[in-house]
Amino acid sequence: MPKVAIIGAGNVGSLTAMRIVEKAIADVIIIDIAKDIARGKSLDLEDSLSVFKVDSTIKSTEDFSQVKDADVIVITAGFPRKPGMTREDLLNKNVEIIKDVALKIKSLNSKAVVIILTNPVDLMAQVFHKITNFDTKRIIGLGVSLDSARFANLVSQELKVGVSEVEAIVIGVHGKGMLPLARFTKVKGKALSNLLDEKKINDLTEATVQRGATIVAHLGSGSAYFAPSAAISEMVESIVKDENGETVASVYLNGEYGLKDVFIGVPVRLGKSGIKNIIELKLNPQEKDLLLKAAGELKKCTISV
Ligand code: 2OP
Repeated sequence: MPKVAIIGAGNVGSLTAMRIVEKAIADVIIIDIAKDIARGKSLDLEDSLSVFKVDSTIKSTEDFSQVKDADVIVITAGFPRKPGMTREDLLNKNVEIIKDVALKIKSLNSKAVVIILTNPVDLMAQVFHKITNFDTKRIIGLGVSLDSARFANLVSQELKVGVSEVEAIVIGVHGKGMLPLARFTKVKGKALSNLLDEKKINDLTEATVQRGATIVAHLGSGSAYFAPSAAISEMVESIVKDENGETVASVYLNGEYGLKDVFIGVPVRLGKSGIKNIIELKLNPQEKDLLLKAAGELKKCTISV
């Protein structure tokens, strides 16, 4: 059974663990300095597996060295947003956490595929890369697949079709530079840009950009966790089963889309060793311009490590 190490026993970490073991995708170890919380959650989760007759294992520890033989490492550690905050507001606090985690992972396991969820995720992936110098194929920022799920949901509600009929694609930054792509989003196989007028599409785009903040505002503290954990577990499944699954993720571009040395969300195929390939959509000039602008904003924030 493959092994997944999840750094952080908060809502996203523990729900991700639950989704992975319930589907018997892998064995999971949750790592958190708050060892009692992690232990309480893993014991509870462990008890649930006999209900489903699932043989995956779930463990917890405060001992970071347990990442050493993980096939996939999921980093959820970090501060979440509070109402009124942007993801970018978390930069200074979370960069220190990612630096620390990256240094430890570098010394313990340079083979795993690493999925980063800590915000602002595109920049955190960049920091992780600078610290570890890992092969960029094994560093994946998770943001736009969550945004794609949100866009699909909002489109399905607008068009009153089942969400399973919608294939949504959001690229760009997991933040203000998010780009839901109406021409590439399909509803029952038809392009969304042919089904709704520009005003409606813009409203859905804005609602998608704001969806995370809307959830934070309702929760009052902490951010979303059901959809983020769903997006992570799907990604983990594609990786450990070497499925060649197509998704969108924040990955290192080295010339693709005319961009270099930046982590930003684009479509990819995933497999055992991480990113199998980056898919280059044929963007029109307006879409390309928006992506370049979003990448330009990210580059302005580049952090020294
Ligand atoms: C969100 O958008 C956690 O960034 C995540 O909810």
